[in-house]
Amino acid sequence: MTHGLIIYHSLFGNTKQVAYCLANGMKDVGMSVECLGIEEIVLENLSKYEFIAIGGPTHIIGISKPLKEFLVKLKTVSLKGIKGFSFDTRNPSRMNKKWLLTLENSAARRIEGKMRRMKMKIIKPYLSAIVYGREGPLEKNVELEFRSIGKELGKMLVVEKDVEN
Ligand SMILES: Cc1cc2nc3c(=O)[nH]c(=O)nc-3n(C[C@H](O)[C@H](O)[C@H](O)COP(=O)(O)O)c2cc1C
Repeated sequence: MTHGLIIYHSLFGNTKQVAYCLANGMKDVGMSVECLGIEEIVLENLSKYEFIAIGGPTHIIGISKPLKEFLVKLKTVSLKGIKGFSFDTRNPSRMNKKWLLTLENSAARRIEGKMRRMKMKIIKPYLSAIVYGREGPLEKNVELEFRSIGKELGKMLVVEKDVEN
């Protein structure tokens, strides 16, 4: 069975919710998947996973400080070849200054870049979930949307595994 892990950082619980939606979608198609916060991760255990997704809230148009620190620690283990995907939550209504709009407002984009530099194999481009306010809630339909993305990822992984065997 394909073994996956979803790692998240979440201040107010919205990104955690998205992480669980992805996990449930993957379970729907028969994948074994764990969903853990950055504080629960044992770095030495990561090499056993065939797929790792990483997600966090967008803070100051980038990655939140705790997730950034976690990603620095992540570089001490080899994740080469492990399949990956990144996601974030963000509240675009905070981008109310014109100059801010010229910047890419997404933690996931930066997380994906770091995963690539760790030689992970990105199997789907990063995605964002929108929250209504700083503390949420998630925009309508986000939960369904991310469950269906989880299914899509799960199918890709299960099919790839069949081809590899
Ligand atoms: C310190 C701070 C900075 C933030 N900066 C941004 C930002 O630059 N762009 C944005 O879209 N949302 C920004 N937000 C809104 C967060 O993205 C939002 O709180 C988050 O998606 C909620 O996810 P969580 O419940 O998992 O923490 C910021 C929130 C905080 C607390």
